[in-house]
Amino acid sequence: MLNARHWILGSLLGLCALTLVAAPGEVSFKRDVQPIFDHHCADCHGTKKQKARLNLSPETAYQELVNMSSAEIPSILRVKPGDPADSYLWQKLEHTAKKGSGMPKGWFWAKNLDQKDMDTIKAWIEQGAKP
Ligand code: HEC
Repeated sequence: MLNARHWILGSLLGLCALTLVAAPGEVSFKRDVQPIFDHHCADCHGTKKQKARLNLSPETAYQELVNMSSAEIPSILRVKPGDPADSYLWQKLEHTAKKGSGMPKGWFWAKNLDQKDMDTIKAWIEQGAKP
């Protein structure tokens, strides 16, 4: 016989499944992307230094990235909404850009972001690089 306990357990499992399906979800620039820049990029692309004329501080990052020409290869946009492969930011993070080093640049060699952070930035661009 199906008692209340089974019922509750069943509902809980159902909820978990729903959460899993919805997991990738919509990426928010402020909530998900900006903290990655704050953490890994601000030393060189912040209020004190703006390497390659790029300031990734919360006040300026979005405006300086989306639909803006890159400094190193002006024919490529830093972020082309919907198209990571053709976005200079993504090429730098993937270490495939034709100029300069991969990002985040380190003292001796270029580092890589965690896969989770890479996935977040890629999904943000794919979803249209919304503010
Ligand atoms: C240790 C300093 C340093 C750190 C940390 C760093 N960068 Fe850079 N970045 C540079 C320098 C220097 C350049 C220009 C020379 C080059 O590309 O190698 C550059 C260039 C860039 C460019 C090219 C901009 C353009 O318009 O041409 C992008 C995009 C970029 N960085 C993104 C990032 C991101 C995103 C992070 C963090 C994940 C990051 N960088 C971390 C030093 C740094």
